[in-house]
Amino acid sequence: MTNHHEKIEKSAGWLGILTVVAISFGTLVEITPLMFLKETTEPVDGLKPYTALQMEGRDVFIREGCTNCHSQMIRPFRHEVERYGHYSVAGESVWEHPFLWGSKRTGPDLARVGGRYSDDWHYAHLMDPRSVVSQSNMPAYPWLNDAVLDGKLTAKKLETFRSFGVPYTDDDIAGAEAAVKGKTEMQALIAYLQSLGTALK
Ligand code: HEC
Repeated sequence: MTNHHEKIEKSAGWLGILTVVAISFGTLVEITPLMFLKETTEPVDGLKPYTALQMEGRDVFIREGCTNCHSQMIRPFRHEVERYGHYSVAGESVWEHPFLWGSKRTGPDLARVGGRYSDDWHYAHLMDPRSVVSQSNMPAYPWLNDAVLDGKLTAKKLETFRSFGVPYTDDDIAGAEAAVKGKTEMQALIAYLQSLGTALK
């Protein structure tokens, strides 16, 4: 009797094709149910869309490359949960476009940093990390305190998020420019940081 398994293993072509089929099937089985599970597609109770100012802060966070050193994803392991708080759940990220989960942790995870420190602490830390954590190797970001937002694009940003299903109202969008105009990028970034991970009770 011919051994089919052996035949496949000895033919690079068939092995390649069938490996792709097997992986594709596995992927479908794992991912398709997630698209229909309420737990992964619905926002957690209490999730609020970013305010206009937080939205600008998020863009500063992305632009300055904070994601190169900070993840926003607490894994469901005891050592993570004890350090950072409740592990991240999908319902907290449904309005994130793109999500900033990351995996690089030169610094601590920031998924639940909101409310952990005062605004003043963040200000001091971002102006000069060594002033509050003497051994920190995080860079300083003093220019954020001089950069003033004009808010010209803020409404567009909220509109774009709304087109992805984030529930912004017409009033939110109409008031977006006024809400950030004249504020500094530092204020925006701190507002963003203070919002992180606060929805899950
Ligand atoms: C080169 C890597 C690096 C970059 C880039 C970086 N950080 Fe950090 N960050 C760290 C390290 C290391 C720490 C831990 C020491 C400290 O608190 O300063 C830290 C700590 C923090 C903390 C305190 C977290 C806690 O739970 O104690 C916050 C908040 C923070 N960073 C925000 C930011 C923001 C916002 C940016 C971008 C503007 C940024 N970081 C960019 C390395 C980095």
